Amino acid sequence: MKQFNSNVNSHTFSSFFVKFAVCFLFLGLAYRLFSSSFVQFSPVVVTTDTVFDADKGLPPLPPVSSSDISVNHTAKNEKCNVFVGNWVRDPTGPFYTNATCSTIEEHQNCMRNGRPDTDYIYWRWKPRDCNLPKFDPKKFLNMMRGKSLAFIGDSIMRNHVQSLLCMLSQVEQAMEVYHDEQYKSRRWFFPSHRLTLSVVWSPFLTKASVFEDVNGVSSGIIQLHLDELDATWTDQYENFDYVVTAGGKWFLKSAIYYENNTIVGCHNCQGKNITELGFYYAYRKALNSTLKFITSSKHSVYTFFRTTTPDHFENGEWNTGGYCNRTRPFREGEIDVNDIDGVMRNIELEEFERAAAIGSKKGLTLKLFDTTLVSLLRPDGHPGVYRHLHPFAVKDKNLKLQNDCLHWCLPGPIDSWNDLMMETLVNG
Ligand SMILES: *[C@@H]1O[C@H](CO)[C@@H](O)[C@H](O)[C@H]1NC(C)=O
Ligand SMILES: *[C@@H]1O[C@H](CO)[C@@H](O)[C@H](O)[C@H]1NC(C)=O
Ligand SMILES: *[C@@H]1O[C@H](CO)[C@@H](O)[C@H](O)[C@H]1NC(C)=O
Ligand SMILES: *[C@@H]1O[C@H](CO)[C@@H](O)[C@H](O)[C@H]1NC(C)=O
Ligand SMILES: *[C@@H]1O[C@H](CO)[C@@H](O)[C@H](O)[C@H]1NC(C)=O
Ligand SMILES: *[C@@H]1O[C@H](CO)[C@@H](O)[C@H](O)[C@H]1NC(C)=O
Repeated sequence: MKQFNSNVNSHTFSSFFVKFAVCFLFLGLAYRLFSSSFVQFSPVVVTTDTVFDADKGLPPLPPVSSSDISVNHTAKNEKCNVFVGNWVRDPTGPFYTNATCSTIEEHQNCMRNGRPDTDYIYWRWKPRDCNLPKFDPKKFLNMMRGKSLAFIGDSIMRNHVQSLLCMLSQVEQAMEVYHDEQYKSRRWFFPSHRLTLSVVWSPFLTKASVFEDVNGVSSGIIQLHLDELDATWTDQYENFDYVVTAGGKWFLKSAIYYENNTIVGCHNCQGKNITELGFYYAYRKALNSTLKFITSSKHSVYTFFRTTTPDHFENGEWNTGGYCNRTRPFREGEIDVNDIDGVMRNIELEEFERAAAIGSKKGLTLKLFDTTLVSLLRPDGHPGVYRHLHPFAVKDKNLKLQNDCLHWCLPGPIDSWNDLMMETLVNG
């Protein structure tokens, strides 16, 4: 798989597939590079090859304890950490279905795509020390009257926005008022509530040159400017009242890192005589630049800063037959966060705490939106093979079905993120 470092040749795949594939390729590579046992489930041990096959010169991964996940990181006086808990049965089922929400993206429309089991939609998140009220779209729309809410990040952000749109559309239909060429950045307006809802495609948050053609085929290594932000979102920042933002798995890709327009190092750029810094170097810098912008801006925005969301590929990676066909959630303690998510989350927590300290002096609201555990416990909530319409209808034994064990079915576990967002807005 090393030849994929900068070139993926494919003409037959759809653009989405290739992007997806490339993304997981790098992910897979990163896993191989950095982890000896990248997922540690206790009930059923999930294994991948444990090869440490490349780059002896890589800096060591910072130490991380996977049990950090349940560490108390919230303010001492906070009554209840809504992000620590378990999934409990909920016979009332989801807010919407494929029939009542018309805007579900096809790759997440598990119901329509023929997923046979339905258990995964009958759970709700139950914080350990309190109750989490269900999302109330009417209340939400009223709270947000006349406001502008933006989700800035990668395809997990898009996944979250889709969920919110489906919930809100049960009360008021949104009008789409903008989309970019590839429908990655979009904006909607709810006329009765004058709410503007945006999703802004910015997977690195910082200025990045990504050399992918329209098919997602990469022709060169990504160049990331860690101290300059992506104008796609900063240019619009003054229009926003609320922002949800996060880093994510794109940072695991091979890239050359710049600061002050000068190369400072790279991740996975073999043969280029550039210092390997590890993805986590860039991750910290990019999050720091983003949070610095938010805390130093004259324009005050209520910000949700989301933590990493684990994926659940088992018995392989995205391209080596990895799948996710579990049909029930894990209990807290049944599964540990893997090394990479652990490292990412620690960086997120550290940078968030620093920013929150600066922000609070200025009366700025910065909320940690800590979805890691909530997500970790839901191996059953991904599309898996049902990212394709009726995946088993084609009886071709040679056809390898691509699994998606990263994004979430809609309806699905990601709907609860809106419960958590609402609760944070109301009581946080
Ligand atoms: C977190 O804090 C609560 C109350 O302050 C305590 O009961 C609990 O044991 C703590 N958990 C951890 C993992 O430290
Ligand atoms: C919704 O999914 C069901 C299968 O669960 C399917 O029969 C139905 O046609 C789908 N409806 C729409 C509008 O996609
Ligand atoms: C950035 O680079 C310029 C010249 O390229 C240099 O004059 C300046 O001191 C550098 N700034 C920092 C902070 O390194
Ligand atoms: C790599 O970079 C170092 C420092 O810039 C330089 O001394 C060395 O000659 C370079 N090696 C190669 C093979 O270009
Ligand atoms: C960013 O990093 C600097 C230098 O380490 C630190 O002082 C600062 O607190 C960090 N966060 C923000 C939001 O500036
Ligand atoms: C999941 O898939 C694997 C491999 O195809 C199979 O062995 C296993 O029984 C499946 N589990 C469930 C719960 O369907």
